[in-house]
Amino acid sequence: MDLTHRPRRLRQDGVRGLVSETSLEPTDFIAPVFVDATTDERVPIESMPGHERVPIDEAVARVEEVLETGVEAVMLFGIPESKDPEGTRAWVEDGVVQEATRRVTAETDAYVITDVCLCEYTTHGHCGPLEEELRGEDHEHGPACDHDPTLTVDNDAALESLARTAVSHAEAGADMVAPSSMMDGMVGAIREGLDDEGYEHVPIMSYAAKYESAFYGPFRDAADGAPSFGDRRHYQMDPANSREALQEVRLDAEEGADVMMVKPALPYLDIVSAVRREFDHPVAAYNVSGEYAMLHAAAEKGWLDLEEVARESLLSIKRAGADLILTYFAEDVASEL
Ligand code: PBG
Repeated sequence: MDLTHRPRRLRQDGVRGLVSETSLEPTDFIAPVFVDATTDERVPIESMPGHERVPIDEAVARVEEVLETGVEAVMLFGIPESKDPEGTRAWVEDGVVQEATRRVTAETDAYVITDVCLCEYTTHGHCGPLEEELRGEDHEHGPACDHDPTLTVDNDAALESLARTAVSHAEAGADMVAPSSMMDGMVGAIREGLDDEGYEHVPIMSYAAKYESAFYGPFRDAADGAPSFGDRRHYQMDPANSREALQEVRLDAEEGADVMMVKPALPYLDIVSAVRREFDHPVAAYNVSGEYAMLHAAAEKGWLDLEEVARESLLSIKRAGADLILTYFAEDVASEL
């Protein structure tokens, strides 16, 4: 055959590494860590094999395990000792994330990012206080069945709580805050709150394009944050939309976000890639709990090689344009690199 072009030439050992376009580094990853104020023992998370909720006393030890793999950043999530309709335990000085942050920043070199949301702290599990019409109802069991399902979170009332929460995390020593509630104006409110209190240097990683996804299922078990009624489709994004994601990112850029996150990752690589093309900000992608759980489930059946598919997944997220990857595979993949 008289072939001029033979792309296989560059796939041979010796040269394939030289021409490889993408690589993974442990410093690309952020490892999520769940700190639970309701327990004094580590509790395995069934739907996320290898992950646990750890008591506050174990937070430092847990973060040290992450650091040993070469991963340098963690994202702290908190499970509070008690909940109320407003989620007040989210911003108290002795809250679970605040306490864990103080200890981890004092005792380790980890870069500590905190998730700023209210769903783990409210009795009804929504990401902010409810609309006035719904207040005072039985939040554990949800509002009356004839309630208007478009009514959930009171956006503007949530902003103040989110700003207070972010400030309390910064006071505890958080290196970066990551608002995930998808309230309109959340980045601006948090930026203003931080700046007013002298935390101008604390960056915001916004969950800018966060979709209303069924891939969050295992996380909601892990963090005990499932809504007790309704769903999050009136604040998280519709999976059908992509131009809207660019609009969300644009608004967050105007409000002062430093890093733009797309979430979930694998089913939304087109969004990661579009944000990468349209904006100059660092792009983060959240390889969520369901993406982790499904690979584990298939591997457990012997249908997939876990190590291979985990690495290939993270590589594809990087190739699509993510600079940072939040992933439950952080430690496993980093230790193999
Ligand atoms: C809180 C929050 C969620 C996740 C991260 N922050 C859950 C949700 O919005 O329901 C999901 C993370 C995961 O699935 O791994 N708002």
